[in-house]
Amino acid sequence: MPSDPRLFFDSSIAETVDTPSHLVDAGRLRHNLAVLQNIRRQAGCRVLASLKAFAFPELARLISGELDGLSISSVNEAVLAEELGARAIHAHAPAWNRKSLSRVAGICTHISLNSLSQWERHRATKGSGGGPSLGLRVNPQRSAATAECYDPCRPGSRLGARAAAVAEADLDGLEGLHVHALCEAGADDLERVVAALDDFEPLLKRCRWVNLGGGHNLTHPDYRRDLLAEVIAGLRRRHDVEVFLEPGAAVVWDCGVMVVEVLDIVRNGVDVAIIDASVVAHCPDVLEIPRRPAVLGARRGAGGPFVYALGGNSCMASDVFGTFSFDRPLRVGERLQLLDMAHYSMVRTSFFNGLAPPGIVIVDGGRPHSARQFGYGDYRRMIG
Ligand SMILES: Cc1ncc(COP(=O)(O)O)c(C=O)c1O
Repeated sequence: MPSDPRLFFDSSIAETVDTPSHLVDAGRLRHNLAVLQNIRRQAGCRVLASLKAFAFPELARLISGELDGLSISSVNEAVLAEELGARAIHAHAPAWNRKSLSRVAGICTHISLNSLSQWERHRATKGSGGGPSLGLRVNPQRSAATAECYDPCRPGSRLGARAAAVAEADLDGLEGLHVHALCEAGADDLERVVAALDDFEPLLKRCRWVNLGGGHNLTHPDYRRDLLAEVIAGLRRRHDVEVFLEPGAAVVWDCGVMVVEVLDIVRNGVDVAIIDASVVAHCPDVLEIPRRPAVLGARRGAGGPFVYALGGNSCMASDVFGTFSFDRPLRVGERLQLLDMAHYSMVRTSFFNGLAPPGIVIVDGGRPHSARQFGYGDYRRMIG
């Protein structure tokens, strides 16, 4: 039985795997997928999973099959989505050149272009052969993102066309509107963003579909699904459109832990436990947002009897996971579990300093199997 309410498998599994490793629980993922399926039914929308947040093929195939499809942002993700058999594939990226756009157009069902100049450049893509349905990403200049680095509506943002420009553009042939302005947000934030879409009336009038992007905390227990359903129903009623959501983090929210080992404890004014993973190499979003992971059996911040900064094993002085309070002193050689690390960590990992990315262990029915280990061969291929 789990020894912590946020842990879904027996924590002793962490003692049996190589470190560092991501443990990803397939059962917990199925639970999240069931929640998303209910939301899809209740809200009358389609739910795609954003591959950028989590793309481990063995589980991404399950995700793709259970949801309406996948959302991608590069040629490589498009090819992966096709390989995974996704029914609908939505594409969005800041910009495409002709070669990449033509490759993506051969795979995707929907492409949202990021600017009016990209629209002018690629509007012929659809041609007479059917091709993907083309949409335009808009910037409503209103967002609910708490971290500036994740705010697509911040001043000077390169993401999405603004209403004034859209009002004057030749939109003939566009069939969709895409908006992504949220980050770990509730349905009330979405309501505000959707209200701001009124500024894009000339585009909405001709749309067959609206993609409301990601950033929705859909699988969190306190997410207001009734309000989501209301907002989507209103959008469909006013504009007669098919509505898509493309969550990333919410799909694998709380599905994985990262198991690490304490390699050393240094005392330089503060006690620092150095672990065999790196923020910089293995989970840069922890640095960027910053997002402080929770650690099993510890509290975030100082204040407890035994306070440690958890330091990563790269050269960067800033490679620190945060400060945590424990009820007992840490020992070199013991293992720690960082909670909710499946999203944006596994996909953003690198070989910085030559450190191998954490291995990937899938836990299904309480039983772990090692799905991937990274070694010198992977490092050598990546550096050229
Ligand atoms: C356009 C777009 N769609 C979807 C997502 C997925 O967002 P999240 O993982 O926060 O749900 C992102 C994330 O950056 C995005 O940029």
